[in-house]
Amino acid sequence: MRPVPTAAVQPDRVLRSGTSKPMPRDNKTLGAYFTPEAVAHALVRWVVRDPADSLLDPSSGDGRFVARHPNSVGVERDPASVAESAQRAPGATIIEDDFFTWAATDRRRFDCAAGNPPFIRYQRFAGATRRAALDYCRRLGVVFSGLSSSWAPFIVAAASKLRPGGRMAFVVPAEIGHAPYAGPLMDYLVANFGCVRLVAIQDKIFPRLSEDCWLLLADRAGSRAGAIRLSRVERFDPRAMPPPVSEDISVEAWRVRWRRRLRPFLLPPRVRRLYERMATEPDAVRLGQIAQVGIGYVSGANGFFHLRPSDVRRFAIPDEFLVPSIRNSRYLTGAVIDDADVERWVAKDEPVLLLRIPPRAQVPGAVRAYLDTAEGQRAKASYKCRNRTPWYTVPDVRRPAFVLTYMSGKSPALAVNRGRCACTNTLLAVDLRSGLFEDGGISEQGLSAAWNSPAGRLSCELEGHPLGGGMLKLEPGEARHVLLVPDAAVTDRDRALLEEGIEVMQQWRHLA
Ligand SMILES: C[S@@+](CC[C@H](N)C(=O)[O-])C[C@H]1O[C@@H](n2cnc3c(N)ncnc32)[C@H](O)[C@@H]1O
Repeated sequence: MRPVPTAAVQPDRVLRSGTSKPMPRDNKTLGAYFTPEAVAHALVRWVVRDPADSLLDPSSGDGRFVARHPNSVGVERDPASVAESAQRAPGATIIEDDFFTWAATDRRRFDCAAGNPPFIRYQRFAGATRRAALDYCRRLGVVFSGLSSSWAPFIVAAASKLRPGGRMAFVVPAEIGHAPYAGPLMDYLVANFGCVRLVAIQDKIFPRLSEDCWLLLADRAGSRAGAIRLSRVERFDPRAMPPPVSEDISVEAWRVRWRRRLRPFLLPPRVRRLYERMATEPDAVRLGQIAQVGIGYVSGANGFFHLRPSDVRRFAIPDEFLVPSIRNSRYLTGAVIDDADVERWVAKDEPVLLLRIPPRAQVPGAVRAYLDTAEGQRAKASYKCRNRTPWYTVPDVRRPAFVLTYMSGKSPALAVNRGRCACTNTLLAVDLRSGLFEDGGISEQGLSAAWNSPAGRLSCELEGHPLGGGMLKLEPGEARHVLLVPDAAVTDRDRALLEEGIEVMQQWRHLA
């Protein structure tokens, strides 16, 4: 499909249909990052099969999708983008409105849809727009949680505007492969399209954004798919669109065995088969079966609540009001944190002594003097402190048996906490379920060895998710699923395969 040549603006093609107020362009709030021309071209070429086909772009931005097909409708809420698209796509109809407000009242159906929905995280995707989006999807039977990013409801709502037999092609964030809210979206797609394809692309489509993007291609609206067709490619190649299918993933396997995550399918199948086999071995356990995993405490004012030994001396704070604490992963330098580590931090006058005042404690004068400092009064006014009673009691302080890095570069580190430190919420606190050490079921060393083994490290890659900049994040729920198998039972050949899998997954998350 050739781009439509630019012509004079036709203001009559810009419709203002809604009641929603126009907003000034704020790229983050609008998720306004426009698609490279080659990608927009390839998606429109795939989705439009006949010159008479009608095309919908639910968030048409500057009009680069709708400009490629004359019989197009774009919906866009930002007036500046609407004006640009009127220039770029004079043949298209552009509706200036919030897409969900428009979708709730417009009865038209389209042969196809294409675009790049805004990726607005739940914190910003708020208020009336989110309500309209989630309500619209709920009426279609798709329930998104309040933590959903905007793009997923856009895809569902765009799909609902297709005629039976219709198609759609969208740029989607790679988190479609792991985010919990991608589950309801994929469930909807496989129940409403005969063919659902995902193109996982390793290189960035948007080189200046940290977000990795994949492509979603869905065909035969009104039918049901038994499999998700996945293509794994290194880079976007407009000549090979769509690229060959690397693997058909049965919906059943995706849903049940892989808990609605597509990320494990980035692995070469032989490595995944080995991992699946290991998961069923009698000695294999998931971390959550043997341990409780949660985040560390939130102090509300880290600078105030973490004292240096010199501060402790200056204010004469009694020992019983202090707990050594691991502030962040910088302090995890080995497999064990012990008294010697704490002594080293103290000798270097590091701010690692958490002020811990039990809620009903008699506060001694020395501690009171510290609370009354200007810094104390500033801490008292902070959001967290204002909302708890008493303001100076940091809740949920515990001294877990292990601490685990929440965000990591090469691999999440699990350290034995022999120093009996507390830890902040930049780390995960791991406590073995009671009795496990005593009854001989598992040892500290056994757990550490299994965690650091190739199977454990690969499991972290599969159960965690990339965070941009090469980082891997392991949420508590993801950490609970990390697979632990006794390393001694693993053959050299299997070890090599697992290492290969780790390397592949680290490439996908751009670990340098
Ligand atoms: C990622 S950009 C994509 C624009 C264009 N389709 C492209 O790919 O180049 C997302 C667009 O969605 C628009 N947008 C954000 N929220 C919207 C809403 N609720 N309704 C309609 N458009 C919206 C933004 O203004 C932005 O232009």
